[in-house]
Amino acid sequence: MRRIAQETINRVLEEVDIFDVISQYVDLKKRGRNYFGLSPFRSETKPSFSVAPEKNMWYDFGSGQGGNAIQFLIEYEKISFSEAIRSLAEKHSIEIIEVGNEQQSNLYDQLYEIHNLAYLFFSNNLKSSAGKKASKYLNDRFFDKAIIEKFNIGFASDSWDLLYKELNQKFDEEVIEKSGLFSSGKKGFLDRFRNRIMFPFYSPSGKVIGFSGRSLSDKEDVKYLNSPETLLFQKSKVFYGSYQTMPEIRKKNYVLLVEGQTDFLRLYEKGFKNVLATSGTAFSTKHANALAKYTNRVILTYDSDNAGVNAAIRTGYILLQNGFEVRVIDLGDGLDPDDYFKLKENSILTFQELIKTAFHPINYIINKKNIHSLGASDKSKFLNECIEEIKLVDDVIIRNDLIKRLSDELGVIENEVIGRFAELKSNRRYNKKNEKDKKNQIKHYDSKSDKAQFEILKLFIHNQKLSKDISLSLFDNKLCYNIVKTIIDNSNRYKNVAQLLEYLGNAPEERNLVALLAVDVPDKENELNILSDCIETLENQKIKNKISKLRNQIRIIEESGEIASEEMVLDLIALQKKTSK
Ligand code: UTP
Ligand code: MN
Repeated sequence: MRRIAQETINRVLEEVDIFDVISQYVDLKKRGRNYFGLSPFRSETKPSFSVAPEKNMWYDFGSGQGGNAIQFLIEYEKISFSEAIRSLAEKHSIEIIEVGNEQQSNLYDQLYEIHNLAYLFFSNNLKSSAGKKASKYLNDRFFDKAIIEKFNIGFASDSWDLLYKELNQKFDEEVIEKSGLFSSGKKGFLDRFRNRIMFPFYSPSGKVIGFSGRSLSDKEDVKYLNSPETLLFQKSKVFYGSYQTMPEIRKKNYVLLVEGQTDFLRLYEKGFKNVLATSGTAFSTKHANALAKYTNRVILTYDSDNAGVNAAIRTGYILLQNGFEVRVIDLGDGLDPDDYFKLKENSILTFQELIKTAFHPINYIINKKNIHSLGASDKSKFLNECIEEIKLVDDVIIRNDLIKRLSDELGVIENEVIGRFAELKSNRRYNKKNEKDKKNQIKHYDSKSDKAQFEILKLFIHNQKLSKDISLSLFDNKLCYNIVKTIIDNSNRYKNVAQLLEYLGNAPEERNLVALLAVDVPDKENELNILSDCIETLENQKIKNKISKLRNQIRIIEESGEIASEEMVLDLIALQKKTSK
C-alpha cells in the first residue's frame, strides 16, 4: 500500500493552525496563552479542553487525551490517519507525496485481486449448469436476478479444490494463505467455501474483501461460514451491503440494522434500501464508530427470537452510549425480517408502520422483559441495571431522555432515579468507557524522581535548545525515557511539537503525555533554575539508590556472619556525605 511521505505529514503539521481546525467544532475562549472550550469528546459543563496555539496542540484534561491536528480529526471525525492528513492537506492546498512500501502494496493489491477473481468465479458458477441447484434455491426464496446482480451473489461448488486449482497458479503461496479463501490441510490447500451460496462483502471503495457463504445442505452444521479475519476483512467493523446502501442511508439519515444477509436482501428488495447487516448479533463499538460516519440514527430490526431480543437490547445500549438515536422494531412471533414478508397479512405498508411506531429502547426492554409484572424488589434491581448502562452514555441530552423515560415508565420520580446514579457509583460492575479512559489517562507518578523527570521533559518540549544539558541517562521512568529518546533520535527531523508526535509511533500514552506537557506553559524565566533543581533531585535519587543497594549488600554479608570489606563501608560513607550536602 502506498503511504503518505513524512515530508507531507510534516508540512501539514507546519501549515495548519490548530485553532482554525478545532474552532470549527468547539467554541474556544482565550484564557492566558491557551484557549479553552467544552470537551467535544465528553459531556461537561466546565471547559477542560485546552488548545495551545503556540505548540499547535490540544489536550483534554477530562479524558487525558491529546495530540496535534491530525489526532483531533481522527478522534472527532472517526477517520483514519491518512484520511485526516488528506483532509488537512486539501484545505491548505498541500500536495500529497506518497511513497511505496512496494512489497506490502503488492500483497494488498494481490489480496484485492484474488478476491476479485474469486467473486467472478463464484458468480459465473451460479450462472453455469453447476449452479442450477443454487440458482433454484435463490429463486425459491424469492431473490430475483436484479438482486443477485446488484449484490454479486455467487455459488461455491461442492468440490474440495475447484477454486484453488483456478487460482493457485496466479498467486504466491503467501497470498493464497492470507486471503482466507482456503484452509490448509495435510495434503495442502482446500477451498474454504464448498456447496455454499456466496455473499461478497465490499470495502467502502467497492472492492470485494471477504465472503459469507450459506450452506445449501441442511446437514452442514455451520449455516453461514464467513471469511476469517484477514488484512482486508475485519468483522468487528464491517457491515454487509454497506457499499451499496451507504448513499441511501446518508440521504434518509437513518439505517435499518438487521442480523444477516437474507434479512438485508429482503428489506432491500421490498424497497427499504437504507439497510445494513452485521454478521449475526455481535455488534461492537467499532461498528458504532464506522456507522457514525453516515448517520446517527439506527432502527434495530433484529430477529424477534430470544437471542435477537437480547442482542437488540445490548446493541441498543452500545449505540446510545456512542451518541446514537435508537429505535427498535418488534417483528413478533419469533420472526426475522425475511420471515415477516412471507406472511400474507404483512406488506410494505405494514412494515412502514412498524418503522413509524418503532419502540424507544427503554420501552422495548420494559415490554420485552415484562418488567411491569415484576415485584417491587425485582423492579428495583432492573432499575439499577438500567442505570449502570445509562451511566456510560456521555451525551447529556440522551442521558436525560433515558432517565426521564425510565422514571415515567416505572412510575418512579425522576429525582429518585438521579439519586441512584450517585449511590451506584461505587459499585459499578464494569465500565468500559472508564477502562478506556484509564488506559489513556496518564498514571499519576507521585515519586519525587518521576515528578522531576516530567518537569525536565516539559522544559525540553518547550525549548529544544536545552538538549545540550540533558542526558538520556537521567531518565528511568519508561514513559519519559522513550519520549526523550525519540526527541534526541529525531532532533533535526522535526520543527515543532506537533510534528514530534508523529515520530512517537503508535503509543497513545506517550502522545497524551507530550500533549499534556505541551499545553502547560512553563515558567520561562526560571527555566534554568528549575532544570538544575530537577537534575539535582534526580542525581540525589541515584545516589540514594546506590546507598540502599550498598546497605543491602552489607546487611546480607553481615547476616551470614562475615564482615563487610572496608572498601564497601568507605564507599557508603562517601555516598552518604554527597547526599547531605
Ligand atoms: P440466522 O440464523 O438468523 O440467519 O443468522 P437467517 O438470515 O435467518 O438465515 P436463513 O434465512 O436461514 O438463510 C443471522 C446471521 O448470523 C450470521 C449470518 O450473517 C446470518 O445471516 N450467522 C448465522 C453466521 O455467521 N454463522 C452461522 O452459523 C449462523
Ligand atoms: Mn434469521
